[in-house]
Amino acid sequence: MPVTQAREITPAARLENVRYAIRDLACVADEVTRQGHKVLPLNIGDPLTFDFHTPAHMIEAVHKAMRDGKNGYSPSSGVKEALDAIRGEAARKGITSIQDVFVTTGVSETVDLCLTALLNPGDNLLTPCPDYPLYSAVLAKLDIGLNAYYLHEENGWQPDLDDIRKKITPRTRGIVLINPNNPTGSVCTRPMLEQIADLARRHNLVIFADEIYDKLIMDDDPHVAMAKVAPDVPVITFGGLSKNYLAPGWRIGWGIASGEASVMKPYLEGINKLLRSRLCANHPEQYAIKPALEGPQDHLLEVKGKLRSRRDLTMKWCTETPRVSCVAPRGAFYAYPSLDIPEDDEIFVRELIRQKHVMVVHGSGFGQRPGTKHFRIVFLPDEKTLATAYSAIGDFLRARYS
Ligand SMILES: Cc1ncc(COP(=O)(O)O)c(C=O)c1O
Repeated sequence: MPVTQAREITPAARLENVRYAIRDLACVADEVTRQGHKVLPLNIGDPLTFDFHTPAHMIEAVHKAMRDGKNGYSPSSGVKEALDAIRGEAARKGITSIQDVFVTTGVSETVDLCLTALLNPGDNLLTPCPDYPLYSAVLAKLDIGLNAYYLHEENGWQPDLDDIRKKITPRTRGIVLINPNNPTGSVCTRPMLEQIADLARRHNLVIFADEIYDKLIMDDDPHVAMAKVAPDVPVITFGGLSKNYLAPGWRIGWGIASGEASVMKPYLEGINKLLRSRLCANHPEQYAIKPALEGPQDHLLEVKGKLRSRRDLTMKWCTETPRVSCVAPRGAFYAYPSLDIPEDDEIFVRELIRQKHVMVVHGSGFGQRPGTKHFRIVFLPDEKTLATAYSAIGDFLRARYS
């Protein structure tokens, strides 16, 4: 007689704290799609959903790697030619004290491995608020509570140094800095980087410098790498192919570890242990790293031109629209306007999807100062699509709140 399993299988309790607002909204969008409407996704930072294309020479390189039989496992840290290219790129970024480099399944895996290799129960990690929710999701998985520091909206979303100082405890092991920032589009000033490096020095912190958008700065001011400013401080710099090189589906990211060799050694042994235990990153796609970093960079001119024009359109709308104001983004492809509305920003976002079929993400999904409300716009679509979306959001605001 067949045996049926009677009790439901409950997931681990620590998953209670795993939230990923960007994709969690999909349920509302599905509901709207089932009713026969087309939803305009201004919620996911995937350039390939819009008029951006992976550079052809990178596709050729992966195709060739597959034809050449690079379809087995690779070394756990990554293939040599990719690692050499990443070291070269680190040198161009002015990073001099490189101790290790490794290739991962997207920056998402770099973050997972580096945080897992560092944190013990009871430790904490400073993360920005608002933040890219991957960090809080990984911390929840590790059963580590959040120790979030505010970004300062009135100061162009620069990190709030006083708040960072207040939140450092004897169990703080590191600090995450996302620069250029998701969700605000801000870019850190050099003096800010220097002050954060100084705090890290004094409190023995590892800096996680998430620089995945470092080539997408719209106003052509240079990006300054944290590890360049602080060669003596333990820094893991995150980079990858998803954003700068328009290949998010390939899931290729990397970490560049820099600092003093003797200080970094035990931690890097821990990271390498985890790298070995998950075998390797996608193998053939690693062969796109060298052509990406060392080959033609023409696509960047085109991408930045489009982003500049779409950012400007977004800012014009924010400036002209009642109840909306926004710090102009300078990097990446996100704007994070503040909302002056009498209800939760999550209700605003859910109703906007239901009524106007435009999907943005609520500020509460990224964390924000109590009493403030925001939403994140991905301004990757072309100007015509953006104009339609903004007109719909404007109509929604007028009808609901005036
Ligand atoms: C700041 C930041 N870090 C990391 C990631 C994840 O990147 P990957 O596609 O390399 O996993 C993203 C993706 O949106 C991001 O915005």
